[in-house]
Amino acid sequence: MPLTVDVTHARGLDPHAIEVPTVELPFAGRPEDTEIADAITAWVEGAPSATDVVVCGIGGSALSARVFDALRDPYGDAPRLHVIDTVDPVVVEPLLRTLNPADTVVLGISKSGGTLETTATFLLFEDWLDDAARTAVVAGVEPNPLRERAEARGYACFPIPAEVGGRYSGLTACGLLPAACVGVEPRRLLAGAAGADPEVARTLAAVHHAAHQVGRSTVMLLPYGERLRPLGPWWAQLLGESLGKPGPLGPVGMTPIAGSGPADQHSLLQLLVEGPDDKLVVFVHAPGANGPVVPEGPDGMRTPSGQSLGAILDAERLGTEYALAQADRPSIRIELAAADAASVGGFLFTYMATTVYWAQLLGVDPFGQPGVELGKKAAKALLTGEPSDLAQAIAEHQQRS
Ligand code: PA5
Repeated sequence: MPLTVDVTHARGLDPHAIEVPTVELPFAGRPEDTEIADAITAWVEGAPSATDVVVCGIGGSALSARVFDALRDPYGDAPRLHVIDTVDPVVVEPLLRTLNPADTVVLGISKSGGTLETTATFLLFEDWLDDAARTAVVAGVEPNPLRERAEARGYACFPIPAEVGGRYSGLTACGLLPAACVGVEPRRLLAGAAGADPEVARTLAAVHHAAHQVGRSTVMLLPYGERLRPLGPWWAQLLGESLGKPGPLGPVGMTPIAGSGPADQHSLLQLLVEGPDDKLVVFVHAPGANGPVVPEGPDGMRTPSGQSLGAILDAERLGTEYALAQADRPSIRIELAAADAASVGGFLFTYMATTVYWAQLLGVDPFGQPGVELGKKAAKALLTGEPSDLAQAIAEHQQRS
């Protein structure tokens, strides 16, 4: 099993007290889709060699790429991955100036095929690269500008199935293609997802909902270890965009904070232990390598010599769990079998399922994100002047502020 959950320290948040409804998961078939995994692997193996891979994508079309990149073999020679989920010239321009097009692969990833940030950066990098053999696109299956561009220019084009929404697409080509580019096997990600126990997702949904019901407003993911660190932003987007919505009795959703151990022991832990008691902490852990042993230091250095870095990391995690429990603050622990592709594939599938189950309990639709639309339209109106009434309203708003 890729992961288990331990609710021993959930402090009164009893998962058995909540009945989690059974509901269809639109992404349920993804783990079985080994055909797409093999098509992606074949494309990556057949593409010209590269030292760098640029991913143009944002939100659900970018965050899983970072999750999978963290799983690369640290001693391997897979290309560097640059996930461009910004239009900040400070990020884009140095890449355009310093990368060598002859050693680079460019991926454009967008389900809608028309997201402003993605199309802007993709058009820049596509133009700069000017090589169809080194360019690939992942786009929704319905007709859309990115898909049409790929077809017109002869780029490889992988699908995001219609029924799978952006933040649920990490186990489609959206995440599998960047994963394959950095040597993380798509089949292993899918195998882990296929092995995920639905009961873990149901337990997680029940605990999260119990926390929400008693007024806990914040949930923090605290993965220990760098291979798990990018899970935080992926998870925060999944929960935030799926569940922060008007429910039947008013707005719902817990604010997700993407933490990281041990760094946050020196940042947010004080707030968690002695600040408002309105949070739930979700530890994520996988057994890892011990790594180098710390040599003896001078007197006064607090590091226990003879201990490995891995042992220190583990002690810090267990110490933090203990400190929260002593302060009577609830936490749960997700144990991955390993910090590898299979377990992380299982984690993604499990939290996607958790989110859909929890949405049923909250009474919201986990798949749309209507709250983000006006901001997008307003940015477009500022750039194009269309629609003119919106552009006018924004101009008046700016004058008042
Ligand atoms: O979860 C979502 O649907 C969003 O976060 C999208 O992933 C994000 O807006 C990017 O959309 P697209 O893939 O259409 O470019």
